[in-house]
Amino acid sequence: MKHFFRLGTATRDPARARPVVGQPVSHITLPPPVRSGGRPIMDAFSERRTTRRFATTELDEATLGQLLWAANGVNRSGADDSGGRTAPSVLALHEIDIYAALAGGMYRYDPLEHCLELVSAADLRALTGYQDFVGEAPLELVYVADLARMHDIAPSQREPFAYASAGTIVQNVYLFCAAAGLAVAARSWLNRSALGAEMRLSRDSLPVLAQTVGHFDLGDPAS
Ligand SMILES: Cc1cc2nc3c(=O)[nH]c(=O)nc-3n(C[C@H](O)[C@H](O)[C@H](O)COP(=O)(O)O)c2cc1C
Repeated sequence: MKHFFRLGTATRDPARARPVVGQPVSHITLPPPVRSGGRPIMDAFSERRTTRRFATTELDEATLGQLLWAANGVNRSGADDSGGRTAPSVLALHEIDIYAALAGGMYRYDPLEHCLELVSAADLRALTGYQDFVGEAPLELVYVADLARMHDIAPSQREPFAYASAGTIVQNVYLFCAAAGLAVAARSWLNRSALGAEMRLSRDSLPVLAQTVGHFDLGDPAS
């Protein structure tokens, strides 16, 4: 963890769930993703980096929809009903679910319907990690492996493969953010037990990685 301190972040007191402002929305239909255009992929590779200072400004729904589609959206019809995705997964099991912790609640991304379903009417952003920017940025993505979907995989391989799948999603999000001019940080340093309890995850569900996304803090000289 010393590495992260060197990179200019600090821990803070144990976080709690915060109430949402206003009435939580149970279902958010995301605008259809624009599936072509954007900045060239080589520019995105050139710009990709981790940022640990974020503005608190919310992301609009169009950006959120584009980002989630890029992360692990359906980009073609697949061998089964779950569709082909922008991220690979072993045996196309699609074992990673993406949760989006927003100021308005914790949501699960449904790639087939391209929508967000409310799982907790609380602001859980701060609970997703320990670093000072966590909970301040508008979006915390949490990648949760459903190990119950991995019955065809040897038990000893399930978690490593799930981490590998989550890693590919993390990189999709990094590249999307680089192309869209957004700030982003992958995080393995997350509060798995608090999240498991607050999100009421099943015993087969394992939060593997998280990723903070937001606008650059233009007051930060490093931005
Ligand atoms: C699997 C994984 C876990 C990471 N966990 C954290 C983390 O918990 N906190 C953090 O600030 N950065 C985290 N990072 C970001 C790395 O520290 C970062 O990628 C590295 O310093 C290289 O910087 P760059 O991404 O700007 O090239 C993680 C990256 C990966 C791939």
